Amino acid sequence: MKPKILVTGGAGYIGSHTAVALAAAGYEPILVDNFANSSEKVLQGLAQILQYKPAFYEADCTDRSAMEAIFQKESNLKGVIHFAAYKAVGESVAEPLKYYHNNLDSLLVLLDLMQQYGVAELVFSSSCTVYGQPDALPVTEQSPIKPANSPYGRTKQICEDILQDAVSSGRKLKAVALRYFNPVGAHPSALIGELPNGVPNNLIPFVTQTAAGLRQKLTVFGEDYNTPDGTCVRDYIHVMDLADAHIRAFEYLRDTAENSFYDVVNVGTGQGNTVLEVIRTFEAVSGQSLNYQIGPRRPGDVEKVWADVGKANKVLGWQTQHSLEDALRDSWRWQQKITAEQKNG
Ligand code: NAD
Ligand code: WQD
Repeated sequence: MKPKILVTGGAGYIGSHTAVALAAAGYEPILVDNFANSSEKVLQGLAQILQYKPAFYEADCTDRSAMEAIFQKESNLKGVIHFAAYKAVGESVAEPLKYYHNNLDSLLVLLDLMQQYGVAELVFSSSCTVYGQPDALPVTEQSPIKPANSPYGRTKQICEDILQDAVSSGRKLKAVALRYFNPVGAHPSALIGELPNGVPNNLIPFVTQTAAGLRQKLTVFGEDYNTPDGTCVRDYIHVMDLADAHIRAFEYLRDTAENSFYDVVNVGTGQGNTVLEVIRTFEAVSGQSLNYQIGPRRPGDVEKVWADVGKANKVLGWQTQHSLEDALRDSWRWQQKITAEQKNG
């Protein structure tokens, strides 16, 4: 029997791609989602890629009894990958308690149930947002954690602290927090991808929606930063590479002899790109000319951040397989597919 891994937020952007990677690596993903930021359609795309319907539970991870029913039914879970969370930075400023409730309670409920049902391995979705604007680049796992500039960012910092404290107390828990940089791209089949609600906050969906004619113009937020062309620098990682890192992270935990273990690992490409470089690369791979203008800085934006991925290479034995070109090509293919579907009703 294939080892079962519980994937919370499994209908979401990164969770769905990780489900594909898990299945390809010989695991059985058991998905949980409440569709707070996703739709049932994702499950259809997943079933087409996997050639079978993965186990799926519609449940809220903060609902202890609903989650306990899943732990009971799936009695021999080998680990948990916890993606379920709210992630919109701006919304978290407007509705902080909604974010604290969802992002903290879901982790606490899971930790209790893992202990109760003897499931020790947990891979947690953290974020490079915990570093704020680093003093030195590339950013390593030893770089200081900076005060977060949003409740969303604080939920990630607090969740990391919760994991660290739980492990320090001697609890039977092996956890790794993966600090993602900027996930982009889609499955190359274009059967699953990122599905932002309403006007996208993130760069790549805004780029592809503009190219598809759904948005009139992309605004580049600031060109007076201390970077090669004045626009901000980020580390854009293909979502399939990020998905693979979760399998390696689970196996890292599984193969760790200690019963109480916690670690943090950066997951990026190790390379920074400016916003204008992303635009030019997108234009080259899509053959589309992008309508954009330079606008003012976006409040709260970090000037530049990219990862040192030496630890991921070493302890996870993981390396990226995809380039920025691949990611933008896959994002564009996905955008074209969903635009065509929307036009055809
Ligand atoms: P997403 O919104 O696409 O996926 C999250 C999924 O979790 C959604 O399907 C949503 O419906 C579900 N969900 C939320 N709360 C839930 C709950 N209480 N119970 C059950 N399901 C719930 O987001 P994503 O981009 O796939 O992000 C996954 C994780 O990675 C999140 O924890 C996010 O904070 C983290 N992260 C994302 C990014 C990014 O830029 N996408 C960067 C760093 C970290
Ligand atoms: C990337 C770059 C923008 C939109 C956010 C969260 C962070 C993390 C990842 C979860 C920046 C520029 C964007 C646009 C633009 N998520 N941009 N025009 O800011 O790195 O981080 O997502 O943990 O917490 O804050 O990503 O995609 O929003 O922006 O010029 O219309 O693109 O200024 O330089 P960011 P992003």
